[in-house]
Amino acid sequence: GAEVVINDSSSPAVVDRSNESIKHNIKPASSKWRHNQTLSLKIRKQILKFLDAEKDISVLKGTLKPGDVIHYVFDRDSTMNVSQNLYELLPRTSPLKGKQFPSCAIVGNSGVLLGSGCGPEIDTHSFVIRCNLAPVQEYSQDVGTKTDLVTMNPSVIQRAFEDLVNETWREKLLQRLHSLNGSILWIPAFMAKGGKERVEWVNELILKHRINVRTAYPSLRLLHAVRGYWLTNKVHIKRPTTGLLMYTLATRFCNRIHLYGFWPFPLDQNQQPVKYHYYDSLKYGYTSQASPHTMPLEFKALKTLHQQGALKLTVGECE
Ligand code: CTP
Repeated sequence: GAEVVINDSSSPAVVDRSNESIKHNIKPASSKWRHNQTLSLKIRKQILKFLDAEKDISVLKGTLKPGDVIHYVFDRDSTMNVSQNLYELLPRTSPLKGKQFPSCAIVGNSGVLLGSGCGPEIDTHSFVIRCNLAPVQEYSQDVGTKTDLVTMNPSVIQRAFEDLVNETWREKLLQRLHSLNGSILWIPAFMAKGGKERVEWVNELILKHRINVRTAYPSLRLLHAVRGYWLTNKVHIKRPTTGLLMYTLATRFCNRIHLYGFWPFPLDQNQQPVKYHYYDSLKYGYTSQASPHTMPLEFKALKTLHQQGALKLTVGECE
């Protein structure tokens, strides 16, 4: 049966062997979903009490200088120094300053995208957000290629690029970065200790090869602010996933928000197996060791918002 490991370090790991996907049945995209503009605006306003995507999306050059000491958000006792390279790559102004988009797509990494044919639809959105440098070229029919912002947790360098052990992997990463072609590369560099070298390698590559990306490094307060917002809405999330962070930020500058590839369950709505990621062989339960994410809990919250018309979730095929 389904195996979703929820590990919210405050409670013991729970292995839910029930068929989660049945409980989360979502009508196909063709059913009558209507955007609730009033609710969307209300949510934007509420979130603005906790954070402002325009500011919190990145630390700016004016606020740090090389050598400054930063305490990691999740590992307060560990520190890092702002390197010259990091300083050079900090934006002078917010990459989202004054931006408003009629519609945004946030593309999660679930295998539910495979065979969805959602690529062309995703690419029609005015702003497309992707997570963790997920590959697009080989999967374009299902995930599209347009990328306006892509996140990169430092762990991606290890997970997907073999910690750049040799020239082949360095070249692979270089190619991926080149393909971003002017979009925003969002690197949570100040969250957890252990990613320091990986962030430095990427920063170095970007500068050395004059890669055309707009780097952004989320503010130190973002995580707590996002958690605070969801907590007040009774969604108890220890550490929000990248996908939920992106939704929370997107409410600020997107009128309509459409989520694809959010499906943290091993079976789809027709009880067929779904890969954890559309592009690799990571397994469910991986999240339990790596990070105390509570994806199914987040999904429940997003599903409620879908039903209320505040966002649109697509978890099957596109038309
Ligand atoms: N996601 C999902 N269902 C999956 C896989 C991913 O809903 N089966 C969503 C989550 O919101 C996730 C996002 O897609 O944050 C991007 O996926 P991934 O790269 O796996 O992100 P994280 O798990 O947040 O990354 P990390 O483990 O490095 O924190």
